[in-house]
Amino acid sequence: MNNNSFTICYFSDASASLTNEDINSLFDQVNNFNNSHHINGILLFGMGKFFQVLEGDETIVKDLFTDRILNDARHSNIFTVIEKAYDEPIFKNYSSQFNTYKEPEDLTNILSYLRQNRTNSTHNKLERLLSPFGIPLGAK
Ligand SMILES: Cc1cc2nc3c(=O)[nH]c(=O)nc-3n(C[C@H](O)[C@H](O)[C@H](O)COP(=O)(O)O)c2cc1C
Repeated sequence: MNNNSFTICYFSDASASLTNEDINSLFDQVNNFNNSHHINGILLFGMGKFFQVLEGDETIVKDLFTDRILNDARHSNIFTVIEKAYDEPIFKNYSSQFNTYKEPEDLTNILSYLRQNRTNSTHNKLERLLSPFGIPLGAK
């Protein structure tokens, strides 16, 4: 097991000027980098919002998030909900999906990830933030 595994999960508002073409090329870029750097997780886009989970080597994930994602003009109002070390990854491969999750497995992974990391203080906010993606967080 990798002892330096780290996860970050956030929501953000997509820039209003992004076209479908921009979103598609962003997703290609994300898949290429993450798959070649053993970063797992998911990126969703829906109703003008992004939801992303990153799992991987601590240095790679933190550098990617801090140096690139946080400074990317394609989104704003980045709200980090989870940022911590983990023992077992939930996501085995990187998948970035357009609009909403596509496979039942994606939903299962997202729900397990959120349940594993959920605290009372984030629960209500998470439920609201997840609504654009059609992800039912379920009972507390
Ligand atoms: C919502 C969002 C999520 C992103 N997620 C990733 C990601 O997981 N991996 C990645 O390599 N780039 C991601 N990017 C793109 C990076 O911010 C950055 O553009 C890319 O890493 C290329 O950086 P560079 O232009 O400094 O080479 C994301 C951008 C946005 C807007």
